[in-house]
Amino acid sequence: MKKKPEPDPHRARANKNNEADGPKELVAILDFGSQYTQLIARSVRELGEYSEIVRHDIRAAKLAARKPKAIILSGGPASVPAKSSPRCDKAIFELGAPVLGICYGMELIAHMLGGVVVGSDEREYGHALLNVTKSCALFKGLGKKFSVWMSHGDRVEKLPRGFDVIGQSYSSPVAAMRHRSQKLYGVQFHPEVVHTPNGTKILRNFLFNVAKCHGKWSMASFAETTIAEIREHVGSDRVLCGISGGVDSSVLACLLHRAIGDQLQCVLVNNGLLRKNEHREVVDTFKKSIGLDVKYVNASSEFLKRLRGVASPERKRHIIGNAFVRVFERTVKELGQFKYLAQGTLYPDVVESNSAFGGPSAVIKTHHNVGGLPERMTFKLIEPFRYLFKDEVRQLGREIKVPEKTIWRHPFPGPGLAVRIIGPITRGKLRVLRDADAIFIEELRANKLYGKIWQAVAVLLSGKAVGVMGDERTYANVIGLRAVTSRDGMTADWARIPQKVLAHIANRIINEVKGVNRVVYDVSSKPPSTIEWE
Ligand code: XMP
Repeated sequence: MKKKPEPDPHRARANKNNEADGPKELVAILDFGSQYTQLIARSVRELGEYSEIVRHDIRAAKLAARKPKAIILSGGPASVPAKSSPRCDKAIFELGAPVLGICYGMELIAHMLGGVVVGSDEREYGHALLNVTKSCALFKGLGKKFSVWMSHGDRVEKLPRGFDVIGQSYSSPVAAMRHRSQKLYGVQFHPEVVHTPNGTKILRNFLFNVAKCHGKWSMASFAETTIAEIREHVGSDRVLCGISGGVDSSVLACLLHRAIGDQLQCVLVNNGLLRKNEHREVVDTFKKSIGLDVKYVNASSEFLKRLRGVASPERKRHIIGNAFVRVFERTVKELGQFKYLAQGTLYPDVVESNSAFGGPSAVIKTHHNVGGLPERMTFKLIEPFRYLFKDEVRQLGREIKVPEKTIWRHPFPGPGLAVRIIGPITRGKLRVLRDADAIFIEELRANKLYGKIWQAVAVLLSGKAVGVMGDERTYANVIGLRAVTSRDGMTADWARIPQKVLAHIANRIINEVKGVNRVVYDVSSKPPSTIEWE
């Protein structure tokens, strides 16, 4: 469903003239729970405008305070005619910022402004031909007919006053509409998905022809404005930043260091769930390549004690999230006063942990740094990447010169090996998994596959399997290997590692890791499976 970004003439112009990037103009995306909401946000940013996803029921006054340059209402699974369906604050249409409603968003505009939306027996799903019935800024340069991608049951039966139909399809007499004098637009189809070939052009028309955005936002400008914002927000207070050595926390630490220098204190908590030799390597990289001193705290025993006998993945995550903050709080007492705790929380962490934006998206798993935090905390949180995807953080990392080796490290979850051991955790199981994982990663690197794979995971399955070694029966552990390709971790496919390499890895693990007699390879995609097993 991902859309390949098309080069944006506005951004190209800014780069060519070597202009300084402009201030952060906000495009607000009201989330009604569509699975594509994040694609809208990303597409807008790729076009050179900063976008954030906000709750669908945000008050107009609150939104107005942020001076959005444009507003997009996402699609969603609800049905507009249903009484309980999500609505937005009607005053949003009077803010003066151009509005584009997509699918449910268009139906909602129609319904709230006095039109009629009805459920239809004919679901329109997949490709449809759009006939442009009136020339308008939204479809400028796109011709009279083009293919669009639809996914809806309801449809607009009667336009609200002041609106015109600007496009029709076979099943939707109102497939697109616009207000005659105000900048209010609606499209029944999804311009944000790859199956609408003109989708990027339509979004670009909305941003630059309708909303007159300047299109000068880029990762470089994001870095610059975020550094300035952090500096202003933090003032003379101190910030504690937990690092894991992964890309998010490393980029975050570098960004914070640029913003507040020595007011930043990095801490690496060894929760006993790290990979083999990981804590030493991370402290070393920070010191030698990034130039940051890290306070190392070994809290392995405490974490493992709290996790003893715990099998539920969600309980593991909550325990780890809680323990992290408690350890931080203790560390603070040693290190002096800190007002802030910085975290590299990403958009997928937020969206999978809760329906943070009010959309009906389900809780997939509570990421330790989102739902796992205790309610009573003495820190205020700083989370500058809350709206970014991992590949965007990598881009940011390159902008601020984080070492390439760190930028391209595979993601590793905060709860670490805890969510890769199915069932209760013991030191013995950790040893087995660490050794197997180290071989897996070593072989991927040796075979030049590490950089082609988004994430590689070794899992220790619960239960044991029968095997035969020499003439002896064995009854030992099973290691699952999972390697995926992905762009942002939201969707993923299993990596086609050559069979010869897989055979060699399995052979090494079974021969070298005591207590393993079987290796399996995971061939599931996400969705329906997730990347981690827990
Ligand atoms: P899933 O398993 O949900 O994972 O497909 C998507 C990406 O998120 C990582 N992940 C986490 N990262 N804390 C983190 O910092 C967590 O609790 C957590 N859970 C999953 C996972 O490794 C993958 O990259």
